[in-house]
Order: sequence, then structure tokens, then C-alpha cells
Amino acid sequence: MSYLIKKVCCIGAGYVGGPTMAVFADKCKYISFNVVDIDKEKIAAWNNDDLSKLPIFEPGLDKIIKKCRNVNLSFSNAVEEAISEADMIFISVNTPTKTKGQGAGKASDLRYVESCARQISKYARGHTIVVEKSTLPVRTGELIKSILESPDVKNRENSITFDILSNPEFLSEGSAIKDLELPDRVLIGGENSEALTALGDIYRNWVSPDKIIYTNLWSSELAKLTANAFLAQRISSINSIGALCEVTGADIMEVSRAIGTDSRIGAKFLNSGPGFGGSCFKKDILNLVYLANYFGLPEVGNFWEAVVEINTWNQNRLSKLILDKLFGTLNGKLIGILGFAFKANTNDTRESPAIMICKNLLEEGAILRIHDPKVTEKQMIKDLGSNLKENIPNNDFDKNNQWEKLSLEDDFYKDCDAIVILTEWDEYSQINWKEVANLMKSPGWVFDSRSIVNKQNVLKSGLKFWKVGDGSLSTKND
Ligand code: NAD
Ligand code: UGA
Repeated sequence: MSYLIKKVCCIGAGYVGGPTMAVFADKCKYISFNVVDIDKEKIAAWNNDDLSKLPIFEPGLDKIIKKCRNVNLSFSNAVEEAISEADMIFISVNTPTKTKGQGAGKASDLRYVESCARQISKYARGHTIVVEKSTLPVRTGELIKSILESPDVKNRENSITFDILSNPEFLSEGSAIKDLELPDRVLIGGENSEALTALGDIYRNWVSPDKIIYTNLWSSELAKLTANAFLAQRISSINSIGALCEVTGADIMEVSRAIGTDSRIGAKFLNSGPGFGGSCFKKDILNLVYLANYFGLPEVGNFWEAVVEINTWNQNRLSKLILDKLFGTLNGKLIGILGFAFKANTNDTRESPAIMICKNLLEEGAILRIHDPKVTEKQMIKDLGSNLKENIPNNDFDKNNQWEKLSLEDDFYKDCDAIVILTEWDEYSQINWKEVANLMKSPGWVFDSRSIVNKQNVLKSGLKFWKVGDGSLSTKND
């Protein structure tokens, strides 16, 4: 026996709520999915007839939206109404790091989750299954439960009951649709078997039962933080070894291949780069650090905090290295930045390494041309500021801004002192370096922080070349 689910509401129409409910709607035609958000602009964008204007870019998302929107998938700002109609409610709101008060800089700011719980307690009717989809600190379920079980709720309507489940999301941006359609596993934590089955049954429409893992609520909450911490740890590990490769003549690609063939280590997540970005790795690890310290385990906290510290060090290392190679001064030098998103195939710039690296270069007086196929200029202005010209003394270039977004056709490479690849967009691996070399100043540098360009092609073009973790280049160019 399980509960009958006909109407699902998802609170939060962001990077998780939107794609997740789109795939659910595509796979479960017998359920209607209502994604709600307080952000009017975002909901309008989800409802835009022009599918290139959806609020997020994810390969394959537009096709599913086209198929399901206004069939069994809707987007609206009517949060209260959607809650009152739903049999199951996903909480998929943002859980950023707290910026002030106790735990500032590490603990999760749960104000949006709490406000969802309060709204659910006010508007839900009958029996409702509340699902934590957001990534949450262990035991957040208790907070939600205490709000939903407050006497006010029973006073409002005596027949109201709730089950709370944890169903963390493991999708990666840029491959969200594939990850949702073919997940490695689905994790569902909770106590009541009927509620667990109700959610499990939704997934069973397209996920094989052996991939659905049931745990208690706390294991599920902690497993999500742990998965992100382990993934991020691999990147910090490989980046630390990449730096060592550069000074010893080893090559990080060869080292990665050599260790990744050990089935206990595995080949994935061993690409060294400018450091991990994205909205979650840093915040989730810091949250883990906070929890460890809170529960009296500072050694555990210190172990995980080092993963974030290495990442910050690695991002700063890259800008320092560019400064060193360009004779110790960037003042008035023109640098072309290729890629601003935190990874390819997304328009998301949250915690993108490009932000810190560009800021460091601007601080040194460099003038930046930035290209990204999906990140808008509006977003870049939000991340970098708009007019920094007054900060550059003796600026040789008559520009209004210290940085500008350009298309690659707009003379992007002309007079550049250096090109820095920060995101692994496919098109950057196709660049004709011979043509580019003719446009750049001499000696021109190419910095490939993603190992995506052909080394021989760059070197043959006469440009100087640095590639992350490639020790064979360290003596060649200097
Ligand atoms: P997001 O910022 O893109 O979206 C969150 C949305 O929630 C926003 O549109 C915001 O307006 C809305 N919101 C906040 N409070 C609300 C309220 N009270 N009522 C209605 N709407 C409200 O965030 P995201 O990237 O989708 O992440 C959501 C959660 O999922 C986070 O906990 C994150 O850690 C987790 N997560 C994210 C990813 C990812 O790839 N981005 C992957 C797995 C898990
Ligand atoms: C990550 C996890 O992979 C998801 O499982 C998780 O659901 C999600 O966080 C989340 O909780 O938000 P995401 O941040 O979208 O997904 O993207 P990743 O592919 O994990 O990349 C994160 C960062 O690490 C990017 O900046 C990427 O360029 C970098 N990275 C990744 C490397 O530098 N090297 C690698 O080998 C892999």
C-alpha cells in the first residue's frame, strides 16, 4: 500500500527545481507537476515561448519543456495555491552559506527552507509528503518537522498530517538531463515505508529498482554532503599534484591516467584545472566543516577545510603565474579570457574560478576581453563590476571599461598579450593558433588551464604556452 500521488509541487524553480521537475513530468504523465517560485522574472522566463530564453541553459532541457509545459508541467508564482493542492511537495530552494551570525562563512543559511516549511504549515491540506530536495545539513528534517507539527497547524485543520523525506539531488550542471534520466542512484531517506514507497514509485517509472537506495533521514542528508566533499577532494588532490608536476617535469595527464586505471581509484574527476567552482562544492564542504566542529570533531573539520583551502590557493596560483610569465607586470596589458562559466555547457557563474582569476588580473592593472558562449554581459557585470577604468593608472588603451565581453569574431585576439582559457568549451579546442598568433602582440602567451588545446599547434604557431600540470613546458618557454 502506498499513497496516491496525483499533484506534485516543487518550491524553487532554479537549477535543480526546473530541470528535475521537467524530467519527472516527462517520465510520469499521470502526475501534474507545478514548479513555483517567488521570483517573478524567473517564472516568466520559464514560461517564455522563445525556448532560448529559459532562465537556465542545459543541453536537452528546451525539448522537454516544449513537450511537457502546460501539459503536465507548469511554472507559476502561485506558491500558496500550489502547496494547498499538492500531495507531495519538494523543497528545492537555495541553501547558501550564512554570511553573518553564528556559523557565518560556514554554516548553511536555512532561512529559505524554514520559510517554505512555514508556508507548507499554513497552506497544506490533508496528508502531504514533504521532500527535502535542497542540500541540507544533517538533522534539518527535525527543524521542518517541528514547524509542521506545531499545534497551530492541527488547530487550523485537524486532519492534516505530514511525512518528511530526504531525496538529495546528484545532478551536475551541463549534464543535468542525462544525470536525471540515467542516475547512478536515487537516494531516499525517511521513516515511513508508505511515504518512501510513494516517492520510490515515481522514480520507478524510469529508474531500475536496484538503483533506488532507501536509508534513514539522517544518512540521506549526510550522504549528499559527503558525496560532494569526496568529489571536491579529488579535484583538490589532483590540482595539488598538478602543481608538483609543473616543477618536476611530470605531466598531470599522464599521472591521472596512471592512477585512474586502478579500479579502486577510478578515472573520473581527475582533470586538473583552475580549481573547482559551482554553487555547491565550497558551500557543502564548509557546511560539513561547521557540523564537524559543532559536534566536537575539529580534526574532521580541519581535514575537509583543507580541500577548500587548496582550491583557493590553486585559483590564486594561476593569476600569479600569469603575472610572473608576463614579466611581473600586467599594467595596461590586454588579456583575452576564454570562458567565464564555472564549467562548460552551463551559463552558471556561481563560484566560477574565472571570477577570482579575472579580479586578480584586473587588480594588477590588466585590461580584459572576455568571451563565453552562454554567460551574459549582465551576469559578468554582476560578478566583476562594470567600470573599473579609474583603477588603472597609465592606461594606454582608450576604453571605457577595464574589461568587456566580446564575441570571438570582434577582433577578440587583436593586440592581446595573452590568452587564458578558463572554461573547457568545445569551441576553444578548435582555435587556429597560427591565425591567432598573427593577431597577438609578441611575445604572446597562451595559458590553458583546462588542458584542451593541442600543445604542438600552439608551439608551432610561435606562441609561448603554459598548460596546467605540464612540467615539460616549464623550461621550454622561459
Ligand atoms: P537556485 O538559486 O538556482 O534556485 C533556488 C530558487 O528557490 C530560486 O529561484 C529562489 O527564488 C527560490 N526560492 C527561495 N525561497 C523561496 C520560497 N520561500 N518560495 C519560493 N521560491 C523560493 O538554487 P539551485 O542551484 O537550484 O539549488 C537548490 C538546492 O539544490 C541547493 O540546496 C543546492 O545545494 C542543491 N543542489 C544544487 C545543484 C546544482 O547543480 N545547482 C545540484 C544538486 C543539489
Ligand atoms: C557537482 C556534483 O558533481 C553533483 O553530483 C552535485 O549534485 C552538484 O555538484 C551539487 O550538489 O550542486 P556541478 O557543480 O554541477 O556538480 O559540476 P561538476 O561537474 O561536479 O564540476 C564542479 C567543478 O569541478 C567545476 O568547476 C569543474 O570544472 C571542476 N572539475 C570537475 C574539475 O576541475 N576537474 C574534474 O575532474 C571535474
